[in-house]
Amino acid sequence: MRIVLNDVDPSVPPPGTGGSDVVDDATLARLYAYPGQPWIRANMVSTLDGAATGPDGRTGSINNEPDFRVFTLLRALADAVVVGAGTARAEGYGRPRPPRGDRADLREGRAAAPALVVVSRSASVPSTVAAPAEHEGAGEVLLVTCEAAGGAAVAAARDTLGDDQVLVLGQGEVDLVALREELMARGLGRVLTEGGPRLLRDLVAAGVVDEICLTVVPHVIGGDHPRILTGQSVTAELHPRLLLEEGGTLLGRWTRSAAQTGSARGGSGSAISSTVEQPPR
Ligand SMILES: NC(=O)c1ccc[n+]([C@@H]2O[C@H](COP(=O)([O-])OP(=O)(O)OC[C@H]3O[C@@H](n4cnc5c(N)ncnc54)[C@H](OP(=O)(O)O)[C@@H]3O)[C@@H](O)[C@H]2O)c1
Repeated sequence: MRIVLNDVDPSVPPPGTGGSDVVDDATLARLYAYPGQPWIRANMVSTLDGAATGPDGRTGSINNEPDFRVFTLLRALADAVVVGAGTARAEGYGRPRPPRGDRADLREGRAAAPALVVVSRSASVPSTVAAPAEHEGAGEVLLVTCEAAGGAAVAAARDTLGDDQVLVLGQGEVDLVALREELMARGLGRVLTEGGPRLLRDLVAAGVVDEICLTVVPHVIGGDHPRILTGQSVTAELHPRLLLEEGGTLLGRWTRSAAQTGSARGGSGSAISSTVEQPPR
């Protein structure tokens, strides 16, 4: 893996000036360090022609080794992994496992694994999320829903996960600004969302996404697949901060702000500013 663009950590020397062409794990962790809290980072993968899933409707058929390396690092760095219930169902999400090897050091002073936060309008707990943890030190699970789910569905989710593990935030859909505040209040300020495309669209529309990490794998698949954001149109400007390359795969960070990352900001700062297009009347 080599560095093509680095506007996040000037202390990492570029290749040819004392820097190496090979990014080791410690350097990679510095390049993806959270600049402050609260901070919501999205991590997604896409083919060159914009497909966010392979023919099987999952990401496993489009991602690859460099993507997996960054994917697992970003989990190790996060306090909470937030996903839409659609992704939890399609990808069979369970409680996050603690990182292996040296990456366990990245969790010093906090839980061994990030929490899993599932966003569901209907308050339906995916079966794999409800299943007992398969690994010692696995992360806790929170289900976040809204009033529209109805009392019976919320009660059923609480029966499955426990009263404290089910949050009701918002009326017709989950209030994602309130979710960011709630996670911060629980000490989960370094947030990683792994989508999916509908949740990511809503997070961008709510203005709470600070950063998008995207892996572009070097092949096309055609077909009719979702992009990394789907649903009603939303427009947001981002700035490229980091670009890595390995075997033709590009891995980048784009942030809401063009300024250097590296300083914590208060809880009230707005993230990626976005424009939501209104549907025609
Ligand atoms: N390329 C990538 O990086 C990537 C990443 C993740 C997922 N994916 C793929 O994306 C597909 C899933 O897409 P998707 O768009 O259905 O996934 P999604 O956004 O994960 O899930 C949609 C569901 O999440 C809940 N939800 C989302 N936003 C909400 C909001 N604002 N308020 C309340 N609930 C909300 C709803 O759950 P309920 O239905 O329970 O009410 C909704 O039906 C899968 O094929 C997966 O493999 C790709």
